Amino acid sequence: MVIAPTISLLIWYIIGLSSFDALLLFVILFAIVFAIIYLVSAYLHNSRVNQLTRIIKNISHKQFEVYDDIQLQKNDELDDLIKQTIRASRMVEKELIRLNKIENYRKEFIGDISHELKTPIFAIQGFIETLLNGAIHDDEVNEVFLHKAMRNVNRLTYLTKDLMEISRLETGELKTNIQEVFLRDLIMDVVESLQFKAQKENIELVLHDFDKNIQIRADRNQIKQVLVNLIENAIKYNKENGKVEIGVTVLNRDKVELFVKDTGIGIDPKDIERVTERFYRVDKSRSREKGGTGLGLSIVKHIIEAHGEKLTIESEPEKSSTFRFTLSRVSHVSV
Ligand SMILES: Nc1ncnc2c1ncn2[C@@H]1O[C@H](COP(=O)(O)OP(=O)(O)O)[C@@H](O)[C@H]1O
Ligand SMILES: [Mg+2]
Repeated sequence: MVIAPTISLLIWYIIGLSSFDALLLFVILFAIVFAIIYLVSAYLHNSRVNQLTRIIKNISHKQFEVYDDIQLQKNDELDDLIKQTIRASRMVEKELIRLNKIENYRKEFIGDISHELKTPIFAIQGFIETLLNGAIHDDEVNEVFLHKAMRNVNRLTYLTKDLMEISRLETGELKTNIQEVFLRDLIMDVVESLQFKAQKENIELVLHDFDKNIQIRADRNQIKQVLVNLIENAIKYNKENGKVEIGVTVLNRDKVELFVKDTGIGIDPKDIERVTERFYRVDKSRSREKGGTGLGLSIVKHIIEAHGEKLTIESEPEKSSTFRFTLSRVSHVSV
């Protein structure tokens, strides 16, 4: 509305001017337009530089925002720089979260270990002190105390062994050595090695028969370790004259499922998801009394996950527990 009369006025004015004045006016107008364009673009440029400064400042203060409010439409070098800085901010944030997690995990782990080591070490110290203070000459107790000290030394040995195993698994130092393995041979080795332990506790170990030609792709020693830990638990947390069944179900051409089922004390639903945590034990004294370290199932879970498989636990408290995990089959394709 205002532009039309203004332009008409300007034309009328220019027509009335001498050519020198008209040129001068053009130069002045051109300078004004140029200055406006320059100021607007400088303002836009500055505001993007400010945004960039804000992102960099936030990173240096370990503050990470989402930056959804930043609109980048120019697609020039400055926009690219801002985009890259936002990406860097996200990466630094993720890395810091990861490092914090590792740090917390390390602190927690050291706390757990010192707690677990304290009990047997203090017990050994107590027995030895009592013996040195004269009990060594008392034939009624000296041997008993020595046996008790020995039991605690054994505990320390199991604990150290399991701790080394879990730390090697968690740091990734222990690489899975995947080979083609005959499954029945592997399971029979483990069952035979635990037969004596089971008999001592009056527990029947039953291995269900299955195709001896089934081969799996797995780390032989690690899967043996998984089975030892599961079967030992099934013996330890069983009832008088209980039973442990071990079997294999063929799921399809590519997968088999192994299970270890007991007739034991069972696990409460609220504890099921926690039993694979390091040092988590439903009944600490029962576990300790049976030589447990609370690390067996964490080791099992680590190994199974390192094979890309999953452990599932089902249980009926006071009745039974079943631990299952899948493994990859070797499928011999006939040509
Ligand atoms: N078969 C089972 N039946 C009942 N409870 C079990 C069984 N296996 C494991 N648990 C529970 O899970 C806990 C953790 O098991 P694990 O990591 O092997 O440690 P540990 O046997 O050394 O105590 C055990 O202390 C026990 O409370
Ligand atoms: Mg155990």
